[in-house]
Amino acid sequence: MKSHVSSRWRGAILVCRKCSKKLKGGFGPDGKQPIAKALRKALDGGKGRKARMGIIEVGCLDICPKGAVTVIDTAYPDEWLIVKAGTPVEELAERLGR
Ligand code: FES
Repeated sequence: MKSHVSSRWRGAILVCRKCSKKLKGGFGPDGKQPIAKALRKALDGGKGRKARMGIIEVGCLDICPKGAVTVIDTAYPDEWLIVKAGTPVEELAERLGR
């Protein structure tokens, strides 16, 4: 039997929660915002299905970069992004936005 619910997501971005925690923020205008929060704001994203873009925090992805966060755009699952702390969110949003 098939069952589904609709969502407005145009894509889904996975963000390593552990990387983010290690940085204690690192993004946004004052460098204190976690990347998931900054991306949700920039891309009209969220966890719920009414968001335009799904921004989902996941566990460690076994890359563990120093001073950066591992991010996966699920539209390009073969190219994981290592996003350095301090990268302007607009720059990242542009790459991820669609
Ligand atoms: S802590 Fe983020 S990839 Fe391992």
